[in-house]
Amino acid sequence: MNEELIIPNHIGIIMDGNGRWATQRGMVRSMGHKAGIDNLKKLLKHANEIGVKYMSLYAFSTENFKRDTKEVDFLMDAFVKKFTTDFHEIMETNCKVVFSGRGEPLPKKVLDAMASATEQSKNNTGPVLNICINYGGQWEIVDTTRKLCEMYKNGEITLDEITPESYNHYLYQDLPPLDFVIRTSGELRTSNFMPYQSSYAEYYFPKVLFPDFNEEEFDKALVEYNSRNRRFGGVKK
Ligand code: FPP
Repeated sequence: MNEELIIPNHIGIIMDGNGRWATQRGMVRSMGHKAGIDNLKKLLKHANEIGVKYMSLYAFSTENFKRDTKEVDFLMDAFVKKFTTDFHEIMETNCKVVFSGRGEPLPKKVLDAMASATEQSKNNTGPVLNICINYGGQWEIVDTTRKLCEMYKNGEITLDEITPESYNHYLYQDLPPLDFVIRTSGELRTSNFMPYQSSYAEYYFPKVLFPDFNEEEFDKALVEYNSRNRRFGGVKK
């Protein structure tokens, strides 16, 4: 890859198109998720090698619980496997894993696996991997507001102390803003993915389905990011 490229500090990926990938091959949708997970393993290794510092992944939205039980169960079991028996793969990348989302109604086995992954990787010094499970951006803002209202009520914070910067600190995870959000599969939506953190992010919507969004596609995305002129509301340079 071109060494001159600026690597976005915080990259978000909406991993879309697993179902279509499977359907196109006459397979059940879950096989698309399996292919997505295999692809993710390669992508994480690559992102680590090229120096990505923060990566946020949309793994399961609050709305995804409306899907067929078989598909939901497959994903829940896949999360458990990834954060327990297969967790050594993530540990080898030295990533620190954190999670964003609501606990309820995730099964206990998933919550336990998430807690174990957080605990095991908490002292890792490599990239931060923020995995959004049972996540909804509007809920994140509501939960944060409720937390701040409680703090205000208890005299722990004043109104003046609530600012765009301090608000970020009370979100599910206190992470730097998203610089670049990639949604695979050609859908032009952001679907409730980290709205607060992506206020100034650049978006990229490649047509390729997530299982096919390989290292080469990731590098293409970075070239695209480097062609953008980010102004943050200022004047064009
Ligand atoms: C969207 O594709 C994808 C999902 C709802 C699940 C994504 C989850 C993974 C790739 C697994 C991540 C695992 C870990 C451990 C982080 P879709 O099913 O909506 O595809 P479609 O739009 O083609 O139907």
